[in-house]
Amino acid sequence: MTSSWRDSLISDHHFISHVLDIIAKTPSQQSSINRLKEILSLLLEFTDKYHNIKEENYLFPLLVERGIPQSGAIHNMIMEHEAERELLIKMIASLESPTPGSSQVIFKKIDEYIASRKSHMLQEEKQLFSRKTFTAKDDEKLQHAFEQFVTKLYNKNVNAHFHNKLAEIERNVTQAVLYGKISGETLEKIIKQFPYIIFYFDRNYQLSYTNTTDEKFQLGKSIQECFPKDLSQRITTSGETQNSEIIQHVKQTYFIRSVLNDFNEPMGYLVIRQNSF
Ligand SMILES: [Fe+2]
Ligand SMILES: [Fe+2]
Repeated sequence: MTSSWRDSLISDHHFISHVLDIIAKTPSQQSSINRLKEILSLLLEFTDKYHNIKEENYLFPLLVERGIPQSGAIHNMIMEHEAERELLIKMIASLESPTPGSSQVIFKKIDEYIASRKSHMLQEEKQLFSRKTFTAKDDEKLQHAFEQFVTKLYNKNVNAHFHNKLAEIERNVTQAVLYGKISGETLEKIIKQFPYIIFYFDRNYQLSYTNTTDEKFQLGKSIQECFPKDLSQRITTSGETQNSEIIQHVKQTYFIRSVLNDFNEPMGYLVIRQNSF
């Protein structure tokens, strides 16, 4: 927990700016839609259910109590909170059922959202957070109210809750950015240069991918058709244990590992054979 209500709100603004930077880095293409949905949902939770509540339920009422008119900057900020919430909800809903070309429309809306959020935070810091309206007691009261609110909502683990989610999203976006820079064709050419032969078998042990052009290894072939009986048996036994294993077979080295889905269930099996350098 940060030391004062002001630090707490400004640290929230830094978090939001960080999320906005990640959104701006996300490649504007159809394949980014799921990632975008995740980021916007995190933003909706953080701004609307957490940060804006601290402002609307605690900071703004105390400012009004201390004589700041409800009709000026405070009114504008509340109106902007509402408009942003509606925009985020609409964007998330349209990402739920994307249609061809819809990503371009959403990316345009996202640019509008980023600009409006950045200006909102700047105005708040300039017009409301920096006012010398509060006494030391007010500062303490507000900080205490924030702490109680956070504890009730996130059991004090607010930082871990949001920062872990953001770290995961950031890792995915970085991967997407890397892949976005090279085409599938280039990636395939790079893989073909590996001093290894890669075989990927699906859950039924049928060959789904390989980087070799050797006709013996045609896609769709079963593992028994690709490798001698004793080797294919060792691979299937090893694949089921979900551990990685290195085996030697007729002077060649094979690395075997199951590939797991998000639920830790095997979705296929990777076999890598080392070629001579
Ligand atoms: Fe705000
Ligand atoms: Fe704010």
